[in-house]
Amino acid sequence: MQTALRTSLPETELASRANFAPHARVVREERPLHASGLPLSIRGLRKSFGDNEVLRGIDLHIPAGQFVAIVGKSGCGKSTLLRLIAGLEKIDAGSISFGQDIQPEDIRVMFQEPRLLPWARVLANVEVGLGRDRASGDAHARAEKALIEVGLADKRDQWPSVLSGGQKQRVALGRALVSRPRVLAFDEPLGALDALTRISMQRLLERVWRDQGFTAILVTHDVSEAVALADRVLVIEEGRIAHDVTVNAARPRQRGSAELAGLEGSILSHLLSADDRT
Ligand SMILES: Nc1ncnc2c1ncn2[C@@H]1O[C@H](COP(=O)(O)OP(=O)(O)OP(=O)(O)O)[C@@H](O)[C@H]1O
Ligand SMILES: [Mg+2]
Repeated sequence: MQTALRTSLPETELASRANFAPHARVVREERPLHASGLPLSIRGLRKSFGDNEVLRGIDLHIPAGQFVAIVGKSGCGKSTLLRLIAGLEKIDAGSISFGQDIQPEDIRVMFQEPRLLPWARVLANVEVGLGRDRASGDAHARAEKALIEVGLADKRDQWPSVLSGGQKQRVALGRALVSRPRVLAFDEPLGALDALTRISMQRLLERVWRDQGFTAILVTHDVSEAVALADRVLVIEEGRIAHDVTVNAARPRQRGSAELAGLEGSILSHLLSADDRT
């Protein structure tokens, strides 16, 4: 089986990369609604910036379709790990493989800032997520479908500037979903939202993940968000995965339940004890 390994790439939201299957211009069918997620295997992954050794040997297997949350103190390398997974940054050593060749549309990233194009209306902003399929005849229809999924069909002709912060993030989610990605990475996507909007976005993320079956990797500062959404929470410390916590709570989850609160407390105590050591 071929695996796809990383090469250096310029930054782009559309996680384009040089190492996808060589048959670039194959016209692709729209993915079925239940396209399966891709598994992810990371071996001995290292990354430094100058003298700053940020990731010091990450070993990780994520089964297809799993929802993984990554937590750790500020500057521990969470975003760096996500960017390496998404092909936005070059790895120094080790490998990241998806078990098969991948297409650019297979992996999408959603950031804390929605990063919408101010000169394009909502529908056109979602179409951007189609990448090279943007020119295809069904681009409008696919973008409309993604807008329906994120509950914003009525905003299709609006400019981004008139949307609320939560609505902008929904557009960003629609843009990430429109290509039916098989891995969706989120870097603090809800960090700038108020508490209520945040909870409603968390529910939306969980629903689209359940509907579409992609592999989800969520970087968050919010441990209660991590245990509410993820099957598994990884704690990064000193450049490695220090704790790998399984969240077995049944879905839909009861926010504030004793089970989730207990897990949250134990993960927080890991984080705080690591902080005490530095
Ligand atoms: N392009 C870069 N050039 C130089 N140093 C970088 C670069 N990107 C990240 N770093 C450094 O790598 C370390 C990890 O950064 P990263 O952004 O991955 O942390 P993080 O865990 O996402 O933090 P936060 O929770 O604050 O977002 C930091 O010390 C940061 O300064
Ligand atoms: Mg970060």
